[in-house]
Parts: sequence; structure tokens; C-alpha cells
Amino acid sequence: MDVWNLGSVNIDRVYSLDHLVARGETESAYHLEELPGGKGFNQSIALARAGARVHHVGAIGPDGAHLAAMLRRHGVDTAHLATVSEPTGHAIIMVDGDGYNSIVVFAAANGAVGPEAVRAALALAAPGDVLLCQNETSAVAEAMREAKNRGLRVVFNPSPFDPSVGELPLELVDLFVVNENEEAGLLALGGPAAAAARVVTRGEDGCESVAPGREPVRVPAFRVNAVDTTAAGDTFTGYYLAALAAGADEEAALRRASAAAAIAVTRRGAAPSVPDAREVDAFLAAGGALRP
Ligand code: RIB
Repeated sequence: MDVWNLGSVNIDRVYSLDHLVARGETESAYHLEELPGGKGFNQSIALARAGARVHHVGAIGPDGAHLAAMLRRHGVDTAHLATVSEPTGHAIIMVDGDGYNSIVVFAAANGAVGPEAVRAALALAAPGDVLLCQNETSAVAEAMREAKNRGLRVVFNPSPFDPSVGELPLELVDLFVVNENEEAGLLALGGPAAAAARVVTRGEDGCESVAPGREPVRVPAFRVNAVDTTAAGDTFTGYYLAALAAGADEEAALRRASAAAAIAVTRRGAAPSVPDAREVDAFLAAGGALRP
């Protein structure tokens, strides 16, 4: 089973400060780093580090060649990652002293992904493959329709959650991967989105898989010292799907994904914080303890 990830690629400008800036406030950051990111990019990296076969579908600008190269170094197929004239998408990320963040994204090239390019990519997919998408690129609706016509399983991480989510053909989604806020948004939409299978991450309260016709499966969170929660959800999503692709049962997949996300929050940055499979194996073998 391959994963076709229609996903954003961003240059993250990460500002470390004591507390997140509120309306009308000005705050001095004490550290700035420019790092690879984008929910789609992070999820492709997580899938690849977890051992899955991944095709990244999307768009970057001429300033994003290093990001495409990083995907390729991880074994991600970038044949359908176009280079367009717009600059690569970017994110402004504030991280406070407790590791919590606020993020502003600017789509740029991520908004220039065309339906034709998505259809051309999915024409190479096999029935039973997975289409994964987030809400940071254009052509999501077209991708869902094309994937469904071709017998793919549609997995949607509706992040960032905004009113445009309700305009998508959500009845085509087989599985939502959401955090608590996104789950509330889905339930408020009602209809097929509220009734569909979903995996919900609840931070320190663990995660839960809910599907019609069976009892929910719940896994507690691992306790770690968080320094930056950015991309914890992306790490979780990639590791969860990779574990299912490798034949894990629901509880094992949730546990592995939780372990990977727990390691990620102990590190700074988005994509650079995603652990590799051996680190996750060691963490799980140690019962959720990090090496000193
Ligand atoms: O989920 C974290 C990501 O959200 C960041 O890497 C940023 O680019 C935004 O897309």
C-alpha cells in the first residue's frame, strides 16, 4: 500500500519567545530559525521515517529545491512535486516557553497545485493505496474525487480547520485524523463528516480511534518534557498510517504513533523533530523512556 500525499511544503520561520503574542501586543523573540515544514511535508517525512512508501504531490517555488531534496533523501517520490513561479509556502511560528505554538501560514505555491497535476499523479496509484491530504493546498476536492474513483482510501487531516472544510466532498473521506478542535469542527458540520471513522489526538489525554460499529480504541499519552509541540500531529499521522500499512492492529498503530509524537515534542522544529523508526522502537522497548 502506497501513500499519495497531496501536501503543503513550507519554509517555517520559528520564533522562540516567552509567551505567544496576543492582540495588540509586541513581543521580542530571543531566537529565530528557518526550518523545513508544512503539514504535508512533515507527514511525508514521518511516513518515510516510519518505513512507508510515499509519493508527495504538491508544489514549491524556485526557493524550495532544498525541501524537495530532503524529501528525496528520505526516499519520498517527488515526481509529482511541481516547481512553480510562486515562492514556496511559508509559516510564521511562535513557540513559547512551555513548547506551545501559534502558526500563521501563507499558501503561495501550495495554492498553485492544479487539479490536472493531481489527476496525473493519482493515475499511477493502485486500488487500495491511500490518498492523504490536509487543508493547506489547492485541489483537495478534486483529489478526493479522483482517489475515490480509482479505489483509493481517502484519509483527511482537516488542518487548519476553517469554513472551507465544509465545502469539500467529505462524504468521500474514509478516515479523518484530527485534534480536539478539529473534531469539534467536524461534529458541528454534522452529516457524513460527523459519522465517519476518525482518529483523535488529545495531547496529554492520549488518543482515540472511533469508528461506526465498534467500541472506541483509546491509548494514553506518553509523559515527556515538551519543548516544541509543532508537528506532533503530523508525526502522529505519518506513523499511524505507516503502522497500519505494515499490518499493525488499531491499538498498536495508535501506540506507535503516540510514541513518535512524544519524541517529536521533545525536539525543536517541525520536520527535523520527527524521529526515525529505530528511535521509536527503542522508546517503546523502554516503556516510553527517552535516552539521556
Ligand atoms: O503542523 C505544523 C506545520 O504547520 C508547520 O510545519 C507549518 O509549516 C504549518 O504548516
